[in-house]
Amino acid sequence: MRTVETIAEMRHIRRELAEPVGFFPTLGFLHEGHLSLVRQARSDNRSVVASVFVNPTQFAPDEDLASYPRDLARDLAMLEAEGVDVVFLPTAAEMYPPRSDSWVEAGKLAHRLEGAARPDHFRGVTTIVAKLFNIVRPTRAYFGQKDAQQAIVVRRMVADLNMDLEIVVCPIVREADGLAMSSRNRYLSPEQRAAAAVLRQALQQAERVWSIGERDAHRIRQEAAGVIRHQPLAEIEYISVADPETLEELEKVEGSALISMAVRFGKTRLIDNAVLGGE
Ligand code: PAJ
Repeated sequence: MRTVETIAEMRHIRRELAEPVGFFPTLGFLHEGHLSLVRQARSDNRSVVASVFVNPTQFAPDEDLASYPRDLARDLAMLEAEGVDVVFLPTAAEMYPPRSDSWVEAGKLAHRLEGAARPDHFRGVTTIVAKLFNIVRPTRAYFGQKDAQQAIVVRRMVADLNMDLEIVVCPIVREADGLAMSSRNRYLSPEQRAAAAVLRQALQQAERVWSIGERDAHRIRQEAAGVIRHQPLAEIEYISVADPETLEELEKVEGSALISMAVRFGKTRLIDNAVLGGE
């Protein structure tokens, strides 16, 4: 496995990689959820490139950029064990030199849900992902359903800007009690960690009522909210039942719907989602 810090070197190595090339962008501090994407990339492609970069532009000033967990040695060992060919590890100065002043601005999709709570977040994500795509030029790039809106926004960007690659979205990997794996789970106290299983339980309640015929989106949101309100450590930020393509809130679920939520446990904000009526 080769590690590369500069854009010039990444471009140079890219020319030697066997096609097709799978790409897995990450903020690092890897867990099994991340590794499921690497494994998918490994099985679909002849070469795999991963990036580890804590992208400053997707963090708001009051967010956890400085304290975002980092363990590069461990990340590299995990990526090497999965058979990754190249890891791109740029510095912030390499990706955002002082005069850089251009952004990839996602539209309406980026201002709903997570974008409403975190106003410049998706602009940071689409900008860094577009830059990484331009540098790595992958055949396919791998994203997790864990960040459902991110995957939707990235797909929209790729289609709208005619980027020549395929976006592959992989299922959510969960802990034994159903909590979606996330680097941020480590911020939870033991009590909060135990309580956090309530997100999955709320999604399951929504799935249950949907499966017995409930199609009123408001009532589905209420069912999920009812489960979370039983957990005193949990504070709901939003629960959404939205069109899975436009992310507009639904009144009635006719085809499929994305139920997604952000819930706070103290200072830690967790997100989770499920598709109702998906294949
Ligand atoms: P990061 O949070 O490191 O996540 C990297 C990828 O792993 C994302 O596509 C995310 O959806 C996926 N992932 C995380 N937890 C998962 C889980 N439990 N199951 C399945 N997939 C999971 O998302 C980012 O980084 C950044 O925004 C990035 C795309 C790298 C741009 O900076």
